[in-house]
Amino acid sequence: MRLREIQSIEDTHMAKVYSRKPVAIVHGVGAIVYDDSGNEYIDCAGGYGTCIIGHSHPKVMEAISYQAHQLISCHASTYNDARANFLQRLLSITPNGLGRVYLGNSGAEAIECSIKIARKSTGRRNIVAMKGGFHGKTHGALSATWDGKYRKSFEPLVPDFNHIPYGDVESAKASISRETAAVLIEPIQGEGGVRVPPPDWLPLLRDLTRDTGALLIADEVQTGFGRTGKMFACDHFRITPDVLCLGKGVASGLPIGITLAREEEMGSLSVGEHTSTFGGNPVVCAAGTATIDVLLEENLVENAHEIGMYFKNSLTSLQKELRIIRDVRGFGLMIGTEMRFDILHILQTGLQRGVLALDAGRNVLRFLPPLCIQRRQVDSVMLVLQEILEEEQLAKLPS
Ligand SMILES: Cc1ncc(COP(=O)(O)O)c(C=O)c1O
Repeated sequence: MRLREIQSIEDTHMAKVYSRKPVAIVHGVGAIVYDDSGNEYIDCAGGYGTCIIGHSHPKVMEAISYQAHQLISCHASTYNDARANFLQRLLSITPNGLGRVYLGNSGAEAIECSIKIARKSTGRRNIVAMKGGFHGKTHGALSATWDGKYRKSFEPLVPDFNHIPYGDVESAKASISRETAAVLIEPIQGEGGVRVPPPDWLPLLRDLTRDTGALLIADEVQTGFGRTGKMFACDHFRITPDVLCLGKGVASGLPIGITLAREEEMGSLSVGEHTSTFGGNPVVCAAGTATIDVLLEENLVENAHEIGMYFKNSLTSLQKELRIIRDVRGFGLMIGTEMRFDILHILQTGLQRGVLALDAGRNVLRFLPPLCIQRRQVDSVMLVLQEILEEEQLAKLPS
């Protein structure tokens, strides 16, 4: 099937809830994806951050295939070897102490679980979330998500969520109290514009939550699994949350969401209070185990740090030449480049010239490539980007 036919079927039948790019991606290897005509793209969108170790990694393909031949479906009300293996491997890389795991199917579900844990284990209702934060679009997660364009048609949302300015010390001190069930944060905001907080902000939240008996929930759905050049973004700030939410790349793009907590907090949920038909699916778990193995064997977290620095430095050098770039920020291979103008045209032109990237708001270009991306591929991205931005600057900021 070719683009026209694919597009026509999807446009006719899919809910019109995605803003879509005119390309049909049908194949991928490493950091490269191919469309239906065989055209090549460097994938700096990484399946919206789900492609951590690269497309079609042989070890993941083999693990999926092996497990599919063994058993595809196994509800968590019975035990399963692939799931047990995955739990062991997962807990070997996640923070000590967060030894109880809820397995769901998406980032939003991981957040839903964390909200329930917070309310049930503390007996409190209030959740402090952040302006600019993004946590998903199911009702509970949406109540923590900031952007009005996602929220306004669905109000009233879940009550007792209060949003404070990200990185603001005084607001945190004023808002976190003995009535707070949890503070929910992205250690680096993704959708909200790739925003890095001041270095002492997370440690402050850690202290305030500890002092008031509130839980600190880290939403590492986007930042986790090496994305920022450390296994978890919380590591940059030397803090351990009480609850950790993961998703996106954990199973190399198969649907997964994970909530980790200590025995005491997770144990507050009783049998039947939070379950899912697909959660802990054996094929997804097998993919997750293989993903962690590859992440470690191929030193991809270190690569994210090194190549991320190289990528960011290249962008910062370009910023010195081009006034159209306002700011370059991020950690590892989660990089935001803020422009002085709307970036839609840049993304569209990038696509025509073989680079897939993302937005993070109206004027921030976001790069979330697979962590295996190579220097020469970053160089190619930079060549395309420089060309496009020079043209944009000429058109928008002449003289
Ligand atoms: C930080 C963060 N939390 C939660 C989510 C929601 O994840 P999902 O789309 O899998 O529900 C996202 C998705 O982009 C995210 O970036």
